[in-house]
Amino acid sequence: MDSVGTLSVLNCPSDMKKISDACRKAGRELGFVPTMGALHKGHITLVEESVRRADVTVASVFVNPTQFGPGEDFNRYERDYEGDVEKLARCGVNYLFYPDISDIYPDGFQTTVSVGNLGDCLCGPFRPGHFDGVATVVLKLFNIVRPDFAVFGRKDYQQLKIVQKMVRDFDMDIEIVEMPIVREPDGLAMSSRNAYLSAEQRIKAASVSKALREIGKKFKGGCDDCRILLAEADKVLRMAQINDIDYIEIRDPETLELRHRAVEGDLVALAVRLDGTRLIDNIVL
Ligand code: PAJ
Repeated sequence: MDSVGTLSVLNCPSDMKKISDACRKAGRELGFVPTMGALHKGHITLVEESVRRADVTVASVFVNPTQFGPGEDFNRYERDYEGDVEKLARCGVNYLFYPDISDIYPDGFQTTVSVGNLGDCLCGPFRPGHFDGVATVVLKLFNIVRPDFAVFGRKDYQQLKIVQKMVRDFDMDIEIVEMPIVREPDGLAMSSRNAYLSAEQRIKAASVSKALREIGKKFKGGCDDCRILLAEADKVLRMAQINDIDYIEIRDPETLELRHRAVEGDLVALAVRLDGTRLIDNIVL
């Protein structure tokens, strides 16, 4: 086990389980923040929330191959082990679980979680198998870390709802804590993938959150017709020459069913592509 300050790094699931068992026996509350690393302020707010609430915080860094499709960015996904360790140590995280692919998916691994309806809309059709991969790795991580609660960001809203549903469907005694989206000063939602953007694309990318804010404004002004609201956002995106739009939709925030008339609390979510880089964002009305 490596240690940096008060942070200990564990690679092996059985070592992680031993620590978790010891916490439980000592009656210490354990908080967990799963990540794929290249940590930014969005991740850090999740970690800080866990450190604030729990006696012991575990963060994981694992770039999960099963949630990337063929041709997606698994190989070029940002990796910054040293930087991640330093940031987690500074936040007061107690353990970093940093497994190898073979620790999570040993030879012969074959059982996976199949996500239901919640995975069929929004990002689902554009990333076949993605949410099954997410649910499978989150289930594994939960079983290894066995936390009292786990913290997720609303940045990945659909993922958050899928994890909440899995926890209920499988009777897992884990509270899912939700955290708001952390944004850059110009509104762009922080993401490890923002590192792929060129200077020119980075300027364009500010219009992604602007489009969502326009919908928010129009809704507050009294318009609840989803067609009109979405046309507004579409205009903002096209003005910024963002023409590659996977989806922009208004949905029920829990069931993710499509809305025709928006109501307060509804989810407005979008995914666009700037050349090779896929950006997602959302707001709740
Ligand atoms: P990753 O993209 O690293 O995100 C880890 C957590 O950080 C997720 O809960 C995500 O919603 C949250 N997050 C990312 N950017 C954020 C932002 N700008 N504001 C607030 N929260 C933000 O999501 C994953 O990893 C993986 O799918 C994982 C759950 C770890 C399973 O492999």
